[in-house]
Amino acid sequence: MKRLNIGLIGSGFMGRSHALAWRATAATFSLRTTPHLELLADIDEVTARKAALGFGFSRSTGDWPMLVEDPDVDLVDITTPNILHAPMCRAAIAARKPVYCEKPLAPDAATAFALAREAEAAGVPTFVGFNYLRNPMTELARDIVTSGEIGEVWNFRGIHAEDYMTDPESPWTWRLDPKGGAGAVADLGSHIISLARYVVGPIERLSADIDTIVRERPTRDGRRRAVEVDDQARALVRFASGAKGTIEASWVATGRKMYLAFELTGSKGSICLNMERMNELKLYVSGRPATLDGWVEIPAGPAHKDYAGFIPAPAHQLGFNDIKTIETAEIVRGLTGNGLKRMPDFREAAEIQAVVDAMLMSGRNGNWVSVDDVAKAAGR
Ligand SMILES: NC(=O)c1ccc[n+]([C@@H]2O[C@H](COP(=O)([O-])OP(=O)(O)OC[C@H]3O[C@@H](n4cnc5c(N)ncnc54)[C@H](O)[C@@H]3O)[C@@H](O)[C@H]2O)c1
Repeated sequence: MKRLNIGLIGSGFMGRSHALAWRATAATFSLRTTPHLELLADIDEVTARKAALGFGFSRSTGDWPMLVEDPDVDLVDITTPNILHAPMCRAAIAARKPVYCEKPLAPDAATAFALAREAEAAGVPTFVGFNYLRNPMTELARDIVTSGEIGEVWNFRGIHAEDYMTDPESPWTWRLDPKGGAGAVADLGSHIISLARYVVGPIERLSADIDTIVRERPTRDGRRRAVEVDDQARALVRFASGAKGTIEASWVATGRKMYLAFELTGSKGSICLNMERMNELKLYVSGRPATLDGWVEIPAGPAHKDYAGFIPAPAHQLGFNDIKTIETAEIVRGLTGNGLKRMPDFREAAEIQAVVDAMLMSGRNGNWVSVDDVAKAAGR
């Protein structure tokens, strides 16, 4: 296949980022297949046409099922509100088209596992946008852990905190829809859970404490509506490897804009990565002379995975849309059988969702919850 025709649904925050990433993919990475922006769908024809013109799509439609069926669309890319992911993924699977869906894949683990099974039965390749896994510094952290350089991992302290829901007058949006896979744990916690699983491995059990701080919010039509989802959460977690740790999520973390970070403590060293400064990994390795004992800061550079295609010089900084471009390149490699296949698929997204569900369950009942039990009950 020389050309991969992209059908993008949604043109908001993520739709724009995906469009930019698809456009940059072939120029950044040497691939046998070039993505082409074929068709964009949005809520209505006018919105879709405007976005298609701006992003450089050949065609537009206000009717997403028509996009999925279009014979010239090779891959369905979904960047719509969470509650729409499952019906859109199902339509793409029925049309036997590869699907790239934004996180969280589904409102709950049962739906996510069902989607994974349906895609596997149909032989449809699937990809989910946990883009922070594709930061070259995340890959470095994982490589350092796998190589044994910091020894046995004892502790993972992870957090994703932002402040976009801090204002109590911030209006009701789809991110608050209790049926739609909403709340801080699903929206932000899913990212830090994906990183915890990628770097340390599966989470076995957890105990969570969850709050709703802002109890009601204004709707766009001037009413007020009760908030039924979580604003902040924290969990004690135990990994299958024996490591322990904490995971926090908050969208009311006053002053924090993008605090997605983790600190890993190992028997021979430690790692710190904060996506607010996503081009720097901090590493501590024990055993150095006392005069040199301390953390070192490693800047991202062309020696690190996926960086060199963007810039030939170290410390010149990649950004959010660049790591989305690494993601889209990985999808092209996955579809053309050319490369490592590092992208999370629907099954991995369902495993992540099982941790989200376990945190919500534990937050409600106050007990330790087995993630395995939650995943099995959800049809793993
Ligand atoms: N990976 C990340 O870092 C990241 C960051 C932000 C959002 N997200 C995820 O991306 C998804 C979208 O979030 P966003 O912030 O871009 O939202 P958004 O509200 O900015 O955009 C949603 C888009 O979907 C369109 N849409 C809504 N209903 C539709 C319908 N019935 N048919 C076609 N189009 C429709 C909207 O018009 C809009 O263009 C969510 O699942 C969210 O969790 C991921």
